[in-house]
Amino acid sequence: MTPDTLYHLRTFVYLFASVTFVIGLKRMGNPATARGGNLFAAAGMILAIIATIFINVKKNVLADGTIAYIQSQPASIIYILIFVAIALGTVIGWTTAKRVQMTRMPELVSMFNGMGGACAALIGLMEFHHNTGNTGALIAIILGMIIGSVSFSGSVIAYLKLNGTMQKPVRLPSYNIINSVWMLAMFVFGAYMILGGTDSMLLLYLLFAVALAYGILFVIPIGGADMPVVISLLNSFTGLAAAFGGFLYGNKVMLTGGILVGSAGTLLTIVMCKAMNRPLSNVIFGAFGGSTDAGNTTDVKGSIKDMSVSDAAVLLNYSKKVVIVPGYGLAVAQAQHVIHELEMLLEERGVEVKYAIHPVAGRMPGHMNVLLAESNVDYSKLVEMDDINPELEQTDVVLVVGANDVVNPAAKTDPSSPIYGMPILEVDKAKNIIVNKRSMSAGYAGIENLLFYNPKTSMLFGDAKKALSELVNELKTLG
Ligand code: TAP
Repeated sequence: MTPDTLYHLRTFVYLFASVTFVIGLKRMGNPATARGGNLFAAAGMILAIIATIFINVKKNVLADGTIAYIQSQPASIIYILIFVAIALGTVIGWTTAKRVQMTRMPELVSMFNGMGGACAALIGLMEFHHNTGNTGALIAIILGMIIGSVSFSGSVIAYLKLNGTMQKPVRLPSYNIINSVWMLAMFVFGAYMILGGTDSMLLLYLLFAVALAYGILFVIPIGGADMPVVISLLNSFTGLAAAFGGFLYGNKVMLTGGILVGSAGTLLTIVMCKAMNRPLSNVIFGAFGGSTDAGNTTDVKGSIKDMSVSDAAVLLNYSKKVVIVPGYGLAVAQAQHVIHELEMLLEERGVEVKYAIHPVAGRMPGHMNVLLAESNVDYSKLVEMDDINPELEQTDVVLVVGANDVVNPAAKTDPSSPIYGMPILEVDKAKNIIVNKRSMSAGYAGIENLLFYNPKTSMLFGDAKKALSELVNELKTLG
């Protein structure tokens, strides 16, 4: 094939791959089509990678306006290095993703996101000295490096917070001021690297270190229930950094992929901000989260009421309408199949059953949807928070399974609570509340929950899978 045919073939493959990304993303919006959408977009990505590696043609516009397509043949060692790197990355990525437990998925996603940021930062480190004096290219290089580095170090901290290694938010004195000044200084430094005409690699590495440190400073103060917003913001950073790489190389598919990830991450950030009732400006300037200790001062009055499995079974059996509130504990216990069994059993007895889905229940966006889709729960039974809240007053029993923060009334009543202002599932409006968890331990935000002391609440203690299996067996005996 002639170089110009090859060039156009590669452009066509890039266009085709971009279309697969868009269709894949659309299909990921529904659990039923998500797996197929993921595979479809991945196939497009593989094609784009093959075209990038094997079609090495450059388009040059000559002085007289004619276009010349120049084909190059990289040395074999380049191909060997590329394939060794791809093989290593594939083996590590594949085995980690295969082995990960469902409950560890959020950490894994956070780490993968960080890797994307690291790649974008490395592009900046590699390309800087090839482009001195070219302001357009330097803007893409420096911004890509800064944003990629922040995303990388921020995602590593998010990983540590999600897996419980770093539980408490770390707040330096006047951390808001430190963070804002640091961020400003980082961008002024970046502007100098673009416009100052320097080719100093030492300064570049210094800027890299400043950006990595900012990523850490940005995420360590975030605590309580606010991590979802930060995670989606870091996603959008990675997409943006990759888009700068695409711009730099004139690689259209990298540009489209980056823009899609960046805009999807930004939309998710907005959705998460809405779910947490936090303005985006507060997220960016790290001014939110409050003190997690404040919520621990909640004055606990009253006592809790324990309930047996047989009492719970009778109550559910004679209800007309039951709303199940799944939370992180459901994922921990891997109780998604047994909860579906319980739902079907109740429906057979004429009980109307729905699931109330809080946008930040679990540990990653859509966690509960994915979990329940795994056990084939009908998607129409999953009702979003804003739609289910008005129905709770007419609900006979709300069954809370492994959820805590998303049903904590302190979000509405206690201004000193770190989750104050977050919209919650208003389960206390229901006629009866059954809460299944293993103990009186706090949820992710680390705070007391007065719902457990509500006179309408009965605690069904135990691991969710075990307790729900017993409940199903008990219901069967009631016939
Ligand atoms: P949490 O508030 O974290 O509460 C989960 C509860 O599940 C715990 O209180 C725990 O109590 C119980 N539990 C754990 N293992 C269990 C098991 N095997 N069986 C039964 N119960 C079990 O969960 P949530 O209500 O879903 O709220 C999510 C929290 O995570 C929010 O604060 C949210 O902001 C945060 N977060 C969310 C995301 C996203 S994007 N969704 C990301 C990061 C953080 P016991 O130990 O007593 O059993």
